Amino acid sequence: MSKGLEDVVASTSAITFIDGVRGRLLYRGYDINELAELSNYEEVAYLLLHEHLPKPAELSAFAADLSSKRTLPVGVKSMLASLDTNSDAMDVLEMAIAALGIYDYPVLPLNEKAASICSKIATVVAYLHAHSRGQTPIAPRTDLSHASNFLYMMNGKVPDETAERLMNIVFVLHADHEFNASTFTARVVASTLSDAYSSVTAAVAALKGPLHGGANERVVEMVAEIHSPENVEGYIRARLAKKEKIMGFGHRVYKTDDPRAKIMRKCAEQIATTDSELRELAVLEKVQEFMFKEKGLYPNVDFYSGFVLHHLGMPTELFTPVFAVARSPGWLAHIIEQYSDNRIMRPIAQYTGPTDERYVPLTLRAGKITE
Ligand code: SDX
Repeated sequence: MSKGLEDVVASTSAITFIDGVRGRLLYRGYDINELAELSNYEEVAYLLLHEHLPKPAELSAFAADLSSKRTLPVGVKSMLASLDTNSDAMDVLEMAIAALGIYDYPVLPLNEKAASICSKIATVVAYLHAHSRGQTPIAPRTDLSHASNFLYMMNGKVPDETAERLMNIVFVLHADHEFNASTFTARVVASTLSDAYSSVTAAVAALKGPLHGGANERVVEMVAEIHSPENVEGYIRARLAKKEKIMGFGHRVYKTDDPRAKIMRKCAEQIATTDSELRELAVLEKVQEFMFKEKGLYPNVDFYSGFVLHHLGMPTELFTPVFAVARSPGWLAHIIEQYSDNRIMRPIAQYTGPTDERYVPLTLRAGKITE
């Protein structure tokens, strides 16, 4: 029995390859460093969903299809508007994805459903952002890229090229990661032949857990608490002494640098300009150095991503919903792959309970109350 299914090969997959020893990450054979530097959300979403990089005509048709699917059904908008403004963002996202399934009528073919979910999840996050601040949500535009339109809906202004580029890098780096907990959850649900909306809703529920999503929120809070580099050693030692996990570090598969963290760190170094950003970055780099020295642990994708998301104007409480926006093409690619060669997932347990209990009638079950 392998606790947490560590190193258990649950299925074959042709989508993403991770070499945890060499720190390599490939989407459909393409190296993450090349995709982050040269590609963007639309190309990588197409690559994950359609198994090859799009030709020009395929890319423009896909991008047009995505932008045509950005608007939410009226019923979903009124459901979102009916919620308390302080509702948990990931709870709202779970509800909204399930609700999109209710309004997917007449039922779209699977690849249309996939494009619709990838497109609308961004609108949902922008909508819940506006609603949580008591503001009128900004309607999506169809003349902007996915990254540009998302920032426009979030911040109310069309981003400059640098911000759009940075948003694309965040989307590309988070697009897929093989059988991480939320993706594997989506595959288990899809393996029962449940629908794509239900599989993505389950994936969002899994990502909500702090050991999977949300670490970058905790990292930003930690950097604020540490405040300056000279406090790093004392702060981290105290947390480790209490056996606490330092968020943004460690990974089940990577036993060296997470390639995404290296790219994200480079982005952070390029965008840090203000005194507070330079100080925060110095704290992050000191924590990374100390964690390696003390625990031999490397940062994962979440360690620098919060810094970059803050720079893009994202509030901390929306970091995990933004992760879900980025991961939706990966979730859907895995759902489609699961359907294509399916067998219901049903592992077995190593039973540790009793095997020879005999039934005692209630009247004879007096005596001390057991828990
Ligand atoms: C992502 O799976 C994916 O691919 C996820 C992801 C994706 O793209 O989907 O890559 C996204 O990376 C998010 C991960 C964000 N979560 C965190 O940063 C939370 C903090 N990290 C840890 O909880 C942990 O490292 C995990 C959850 C990421 C991995 O858990 P494992 O593989 O079960 O590791 P473990 O808890 O068994 O730890 C092994 C050892 C332990 O030491 P010992 O008790 O054996 O002495 O390493 C230590 C742990 O205490 N350790 C840490 C640590 N992570 C592991 N010690 C301090 N701080 C940490 N963060």
